[in-house]
Amino acid sequence: MNQVNFQHGRMPDPCAMVIFGASGDLTKRKLLPALCNLAASKLLPRQFAIVGFAYGNATTDSFREQLTQDMKSLATNPIEPHVWDWFLERIHYVQGDFQDPAAYQRLADKLAEVEKDHGPLGNRLHYLAVAPKFFAEVVRQLGNAGLAQEDKGRWSRVVIEKPFGRDLQSARQLNREIKQVLQEKQIYRIDHYLGKETVQNLLVFRFSNSIAEPLWNRNLIDHVQITAAETVGVERRGGYYETSGALRDMVPNHLFQLLSLTAMEPPISFDADAVRDKQAEVLRAIQPPTQEEVLTKMVRGQYGPSLRSSAVGGYRDEPDVAADSNTETFVALKFTIDNWRWADVPFYLRTGKCMPRRVTEIAIHFRRTPFVLFRNTPIKDLQPNKLVIHIQPREGISIQMGAKIPGPIMNLGQVNMDFDYAREFHSSPATGYERLLHDCILGDQTLFQRADMVETGWSVIEPIQEVWTALPGHFPNYPAGTWGPETADALIGRDGREWRRIDEAAAAAA
Ligand code: BG6
Repeated sequence: MNQVNFQHGRMPDPCAMVIFGASGDLTKRKLLPALCNLAASKLLPRQFAIVGFAYGNATTDSFREQLTQDMKSLATNPIEPHVWDWFLERIHYVQGDFQDPAAYQRLADKLAEVEKDHGPLGNRLHYLAVAPKFFAEVVRQLGNAGLAQEDKGRWSRVVIEKPFGRDLQSARQLNREIKQVLQEKQIYRIDHYLGKETVQNLLVFRFSNSIAEPLWNRNLIDHVQITAAETVGVERRGGYYETSGALRDMVPNHLFQLLSLTAMEPPISFDADAVRDKQAEVLRAIQPPTQEEVLTKMVRGQYGPSLRSSAVGGYRDEPDVAADSNTETFVALKFTIDNWRWADVPFYLRTGKCMPRRVTEIAIHFRRTPFVLFRNTPIKDLQPNKLVIHIQPREGISIQMGAKIPGPIMNLGQVNMDFDYAREFHSSPATGYERLLHDCILGDQTLFQRADMVETGWSVIEPIQEVWTALPGHFPNYPAGTWGPETADALIGRDGREWRRIDEAAAAAA
């Protein structure tokens, strides 16, 4: 394997990273393990520090001790003792309430101290690992405390986790509020799907292979299926999920990222705005459904108890979930993109909890050959080509094509041409946050959502939200451990198509 390094070894600027909500799960499960992986790959600046900011009554010593314990089980790779020692002396803690101006003063004092000890040259990366209701408040307080200011060549960036709003209006409001303090170039709206290797590889696959582009349009593609299925239910997140549901939780963010990278036009360069302009353009070309279309092209489901195991209850049995909850845990949606490339090519999206298999993939289904040459072969055996981008848990790309089964009789079968990340690149386990954090420190916004992209995403799903809020669903309508309600099959079946049978495909590839 030959490698081309596009970053040309650019070292990120010195900086201090402030983690708001540092005592939460995200810090120990994703951020710290990712920072350790970056440090082990020598991709962090030498002049670096972490300041944890949280409400809990910890001290710098106890915070260091807690993280040392956490990393023993949560680091994705063994951490060399000298790497961890290097980190420990750079980790600090500030106790405070997100709404208390005095706490931000203590933070400013701590940053001044850190400046002397570790030399981050006044550059700051503020990571908001906090509940969404605090996003605007933390940014406002940062502004008041002078911690969001960029001057004398120093930068100040703010990373905001999802959910960014809960509908179009709240997303716009949040954008307005944070933009009173920050410029767009300081805002990094993170979507962890863009940290996944195969998602990034989509851009490379499409735009660095000359064989891909001529195929990538309505002339050859019949339809596209994007699936993000999870085997888990809502786990301990019933309270959050009740206010969200599968549509808000997965579609305007993760699934629209996958859709826009699949469908966008080639950018004129890999500059952040060149790429995001093209993504935004294709998002704007998705037709928001009419009320009628919501009823005919958008399906929702909620899992009930499993029929196979009495140990797996339904969504309404989960903690913090209402006994008559109207929240969907599954959606199947049909969208069309109104532009020359994709006119009449449906994009079917589905995502759900408690599905039989954990799998995220984009399957490009090509058109059938124009006439049947193999007259004695049943038509159902002549499958059209499929190109599948496997995002997780398997990472890779496969192309399914027809082939003659060896023997004196003309028998056709399906074979796969397969590229498998793990087999080809032997990369070490990662959290998916490494690239994103590194990009924040480098100041590269390509993989972060711009305000207009977030708002366009919400505007597409708004009509669905409205109809679904007005009309309760017939729930529960699929047993845990199945591929969703029958209406999802009917949705695609009406178009003479069917969902990719992921169980069978996985078994064939095994
Ligand atoms: C999160 C959602 O953004 O993404 C979760 O809030 C979901 O409900 C998760 O489980 C899926 O992420 P991944 O990386 O496991 O596919």
